[in-house]
Amino acid sequence: MLEQLEKDLQQAVDEAKEAIVAAHTVDALRQAESRLTGKKGSLGKLLGLIGKLPKEERGPAGKRINDTKNQIAGLFAEHHHELEQSADKQAAVESQTFDPTLPGPVVARGSLHPVTVVQWEIEDILARLGFVVVGGPEMETDYYNFEALNIPEMHPARDMQDTFWLDNGWLLRTHTSPCQVRAMEKLGPPLRVIAPGRVFRYETEDASHANTFHQLEGLMIDRHISIANLIAVMKLILTEIFRRDVKVRLRPGYFPFVEPGFELDMSCEICGGTGCATCKKSGWVEILPCGMVHPNVLRFGNIDPHEYTGFAFGLGLTRLAMMKYGVGDIRGLNSGRLRAIVRPEQRDGTAIVQKDRPES
Ligand code: DAH
Repeated sequence: MLEQLEKDLQQAVDEAKEAIVAAHTVDALRQAESRLTGKKGSLGKLLGLIGKLPKEERGPAGKRINDTKNQIAGLFAEHHHELEQSADKQAAVESQTFDPTLPGPVVARGSLHPVTVVQWEIEDILARLGFVVVGGPEMETDYYNFEALNIPEMHPARDMQDTFWLDNGWLLRTHTSPCQVRAMEKLGPPLRVIAPGRVFRYETEDASHANTFHQLEGLMIDRHISIANLIAVMKLILTEIFRRDVKVRLRPGYFPFVEPGFELDMSCEICGGTGCATCKKSGWVEILPCGMVHPNVLRFGNIDPHEYTGFAFGLGLTRLAMMKYGVGDIRGLNSGRLRAIVRPEQRDGTAIVQKDRPES
């Protein structure tokens, strides 16, 4: 008889465990507990049967049933506690109201440097004409910086560009033009490339000169390329950058790596052409030296000058950024100080926005 009781008791414990797992709320747990441990539950029924047992078994059977009852009560109490805790947490989360109108945390945003803005814009403009961006090292050899550009060792044009020489005989490139011959060697004709980058000159700094600045070299080589192509591309760049028909003038200019060579000037955007420190009081700023690639340079790049011609330009990116954003002193641009770069009305740190200028 007691054996059967043990089985029934074990079953009651199992039932209780199942009910506990199934109860996800305190209420459901309470209901399950009273169902299982009440008079009509399996334990209650077993207690009701005690009277039918032989006298000597009644005591031990009653004790076993009570022990089991306590065990089950303990299991319920434990789960009760757990459920109450998680209900508290849930209530805490639900009581937090979410206000979507509150401003979010302020994120400190940087903005692009004017030179980067202008560089990317020109890259986009020229990409539309099929130009690809190439690069070159800032530490250059004499060969690419001078010799392959038709500036042999004793050539006086070397003095046009004061050079930072390095101990190993190399130099800091004085212009982005070395990228021309590198591109010719690497890609071969026909080609359309641009090479933006930093260049270095051993110069005394003033409002319009710095020892480090940015240029963007351009090179187009194909059959039948003429000065007309050169002028069309130069004009397109400046019109797109300034979003208006800018005034330009073309003067003969001497650069050993082009023949003929030109100085393309634009009217000074800082003073509107009346004369200031940036334009050295002339009202014009040299912005786009350019020309038709010298046959010697084509030969250095393994290109036959009888078959191919091309034009090249060396855009002063830093100067162009100064013009476009009205920065009067190049030292401000290189300083990294926002106040030195942007106009007072832009000093809230937001990205630089082009100010509309009246047509001239
Ligand atoms: N490399 C020249 C300089 O830095 C600029 C230049 C002139 C580049 C004429 C060119 C060019 O490609 O055709 O002074």
